[in-house]
Amino acid sequence: MKRTHNCNQLNISNVNQEVTLKGWIKKIRKMGQITFIDLRDFYGITQIVVNENKQELINNLKPEYVISITGKVIERKSKNTDIPTGEIEIEVENIELINKSELTPFVIENDVEVSEETRMSYRYLDLRRQKIQNNMLLRAKVNSIIRKEFEADNFVEVETPYFGKSTPEGARDFLVPSRLNKNTFYALPQSPQLYKQLLMVSGFDKYYQIVRCFRDEDLRNDRQPEFTQLDMEMSFASAAEVQDQIEKVIKKIFLEVKGIDFKEKLIKMPFREAIDLYGSDKPDIRFDLKINTLNEIFDKTEIKLFEGFKENKLSIRGICVEELLSKKQLEILTETAKQKSFNNLAFAKFENGTWSGSIASSLSDSEKEALVKQFNIKEKATILLNVGKYDKISDMLGAVRNKVAEILNLNDPNDYKLLWIIDFPLYEWSDKESRYVAAHNPFTMPNIKSIDDFETNKEDAIADSYDLVLNGFELGSGGVRITDSEIQQRMFEAVGLDDETIEKNFGWFINAYKYGAPNHAGFAFGIDRVIMLLTHSESIRDVIAFPKNSKGIDMMNDAPSYVEDQQLTELSIKTIK
Ligand code: AMO
Repeated sequence: MKRTHNCNQLNISNVNQEVTLKGWIKKIRKMGQITFIDLRDFYGITQIVVNENKQELINNLKPEYVISITGKVIERKSKNTDIPTGEIEIEVENIELINKSELTPFVIENDVEVSEETRMSYRYLDLRRQKIQNNMLLRAKVNSIIRKEFEADNFVEVETPYFGKSTPEGARDFLVPSRLNKNTFYALPQSPQLYKQLLMVSGFDKYYQIVRCFRDEDLRNDRQPEFTQLDMEMSFASAAEVQDQIEKVIKKIFLEVKGIDFKEKLIKMPFREAIDLYGSDKPDIRFDLKINTLNEIFDKTEIKLFEGFKENKLSIRGICVEELLSKKQLEILTETAKQKSFNNLAFAKFENGTWSGSIASSLSDSEKEALVKQFNIKEKATILLNVGKYDKISDMLGAVRNKVAEILNLNDPNDYKLLWIIDFPLYEWSDKESRYVAAHNPFTMPNIKSIDDFETNKEDAIADSYDLVLNGFELGSGGVRITDSEIQQRMFEAVGLDDETIEKNFGWFINAYKYGAPNHAGFAFGIDRVIMLLTHSESIRDVIAFPKNSKGIDMMNDAPSYVEDQQLTELSIKTIK
């Protein structure tokens, strides 16, 4: 029998119709002589009623069996207003078994107590759960909105290669050995950065692509070895024009998916301000808790912990929570400080004029007065503070700030605060390589303020690059590209790439810029991260159909795995015994 409807379609207007539905048995309930089946398909659930005289049809049926049922739509006596089909049920005429199922390792329900390992080993069953299916549906919807918006604005989707060239900058590459060219390797692209820039040189004007990227880096809840970006680039465009385009698309996504209308233009916060106030380049601005510098207040302090801070060029910084934090809460926050390599977290509690806490006994009267004024303390407060190198203490307090918000529920998941972070440093110091490396990539244009001395004044040089941030997560980043060969050369030299390395790795790329390049700028955001935040998922694994675990393993098929010796021999790779 051909399917006439899906399991989410029938309602009171279909009463008396003969229908055929197909799907999985979600539940079988026997009530006296009658049996009820919840039939589930991708679209929803419909209740099937098997009367006394039809019981032989269901003798051997079990949950997750796939069946086809034919019957008549009737009005339900006790209605279920929670589901669209809740006013009707199907009175069975006939049932055909399409396929049997073994007992599943976990029940196919939204909220099910099962380890992530089991879910991932049976991902195809996990994907049967409506919650995960909804995540995938939302993902498809977001991709569709992105495509519609970019196409409407004349962007052209161009696919770029997955087999590329390994380059020394950025994260570690995944390599693919070439059989036809012995001892050589392709690199899977960390992003289509160089290709999209070349497309601008080719005159494509406005490019976009929903594209898979590959990075061999340590995995976290918001990182996978392969992930998807919305990647774009625009010719003759300024940073602001790129930001406007991205803002338009991201706002459209929020409007269509969440019904949230961001009317105001997003704020643009310079990187330095983000560090000063929030201790992070991806600040969560759903809550205030700004970091304050307290050097002046403690200028002549007797507090041991702060002794000699000026001579050692250290800063005293702190945040103020308008509550009296408990011992347990302070322990959690101290743990956060420890994770950021601080031995402890100093604190002072204030309640109706009385001070207590780790530094309270050493606080002078003038310090107490100044703190009350600085943080505008009313009745009660807990000040969390410490001393250290400016950026290190800011980073630590940034983490403590987020933890406080988590403990006190200040971070409402339904509140979305999007913002731009601009004016990023051009370089970052690499402890591993003991040199300054390009913070974004070596093709990012130095900001006009740094253009004259970006090679010599590395500590202060800023880039024309920008990030889009949502609730403490970096959604994406981009920049204005260097299109002037001379500036590019200066930049390569500044990050310590010698002529030979430049020629070997980027010669092909720089050459292109000798043939008339438009100025251009672009951006890319992580689609997985966007979906993770929109669906309130704890990990991007929940929004990727077949993800890897934290060790980069696909639990379902055990990839990566050993291969046949024959395959290795063909690649001239020594066999592994
Ligand atoms: P960037 O390296 O900042 O920029 O990456 C852009 C965005 O991609 C997402 N992302 C990831 N998502 C999941 N797992 C990962 N391992 C992962 N790595 C990155 C993040 C990130 O913000 N070519 C430049 C963009 C440009 O300049 O146009 C780029 O790739 O959401």
